[in-house]
Amino acid sequence: MTALIVCTSKSNGSTRAVADEMAKAIDARVVSPDEVTDAEIDAAELVGWGSGIYWMSFASEVTDRIKALADRPRGRAFVVATSGLPETPLRRYTRSMSDLLAEKGFEVADTFHCRGLDTMGPLGLVGGVNRGHPTQADLALARTFALRVAG
Ligand SMILES: Cc1cc2nc3c(=O)[nH]c(=O)nc-3n(C[C@H](O)[C@H](O)[C@H](O)COP(=O)(O)O)c2cc1C
Repeated sequence: MTALIVCTSKSNGSTRAVADEMAKAIDARVVSPDEVTDAEIDAAELVGWGSGIYWMSFASEVTDRIKALADRPRGRAFVVATSGLPETPLRRYTRSMSDLLAEKGFEVADTFHCRGLDTMGPLGLVGGVNRGHPTQADLALARTFALRVAG
């Protein structure tokens, strides 16, 4: 199975650490939204889309890349996010991302979310919150998630 994870990790590399762990488990390549080509996305049977949550949204680099794809039936996809605060049960961030992927024709298999080191603004002055996140336990869950989604 050809798998690809398109990921932006602008703050502390937390989302990238999760994506790398998933990629190792399922033998996928991790690429940034600006380097991945439409042909590579089209050729992948499974595409993960990930970023940190910035101002309550996924990075525009990732969402803009998805919006730039042609509308047509596509393969399977999954969502990866890290954020400073836990996602609420309404799953606002990951649900909107799943909706966008579905609009573009992807079949969204599942979403993975965990907390990442948060050094936004004044939090950085005190070393940030969620230090040590993603934890080894988060990374183990990420591996299990990827293996399950990859089937
Ligand atoms: C500019 C900025 C805005 C952020 N906004 C939010 C937010 O709205 N909600 C939240 O839970 N975390 C927020 N965070 C924390 C990040 O989501 C968290 O640190 C995440 O793990 C960053 O992922 P990264 O290291 O892969 O970039 C923000 C961080 C930054 C730097």
